[in-house]
Amino acid sequence: MECLNKPHVHVRDREHVERILAKMVADGPNKLQVVADFDRTLTKFTHRGQVCATCHNVLEEGGLPEEYKEEAYKLRDKYFVIEVDPNMTIEEKTPYMVEWWTKAHELLMKYPLSKAMLHNMVANSSARLRDGCIRFFDSLHSNDIPLLIFSAGVGDVIQEVIAQQSTLYDNMHIVSNFIDFDENGTLIGFKSDIIHVYNKNENAVHDSDYFPNLSHRTNLLLMGDSLGDLQMANGAESLEAKLTIGFLNTRVTESLALYISKYDIVICEDETMDIVNNIVSNIL
Ligand code: TMP
Repeated sequence: MECLNKPHVHVRDREHVERILAKMVADGPNKLQVVADFDRTLTKFTHRGQVCATCHNVLEEGGLPEEYKEEAYKLRDKYFVIEVDPNMTIEEKTPYMVEWWTKAHELLMKYPLSKAMLHNMVANSSARLRDGCIRFFDSLHSNDIPLLIFSAGVGDVIQEVIAQQSTLYDNMHIVSNFIDFDENGTLIGFKSDIIHVYNKNENAVHDSDYFPNLSHRTNLLLMGDSLGDLQMANGAESLEAKLTIGFLNTRVTESLALYISKYDIVICEDETMDIVNNIVSNIL
């Protein structure tokens, strides 16, 4: 495929990728399922020179008192560098990620976040779906291709971002940290165990009937921006072809070799869905 020859697109093993793509194209949409991370995979890392909000950042950007924002930023400054440190292993990073998510959720529980506030927080935020994401969602939906969005962000924010900037379709299944609201619509906690960037291998979705129900869809396209995202489809056992696409949005020089060693295709500093849309349109 022509799009894979662009200078910012890196293919680890061209022969392997071409073989997988040829099978996916020959098998068509009925055999395909897609698993994607949300923050910085379906959404942009930067937009017009400004770093865009992740789900958690949406909560920090507006609506809650300044002191919440300051504390949340302190946490991010401490832990984000660890998340993306190419010199640390996933095992070394994991305890820090548990600490980050635990502290971030505990901090949030100190403030009166309501369901009603979320809509405006998302509307006023800098979270942006990638250019071309609407086309991506529309094509998957119109071809009945299931999309699992597996995110360490906040599920309620994801639903709002997609509903406001595109369409929340019934072929989408979101696995994420969902807020537990009380009967007055005020946050009282989170509904299930923490999903952080490096425990996507352990999540309940792998033991649920999600992947077994899709066992006839033997071709899987996985997209992520973190090495932990590679575990998102661990529950899918009857696969015949799996193509992994990694978005490398930051620290490209230091992280490229590592990403290429893990992902089949690595797309660097590209805020669009163009390469993915090109691949998907060949399969449809
Ligand atoms: P993802 O799994 O959808 O990529 O989302 C996880 C991102 O959220 C990860 O890059 C770290 C980020 N994050 C924040 O920005 N603030 C926070 O408080 C937390 C806990 C995570």
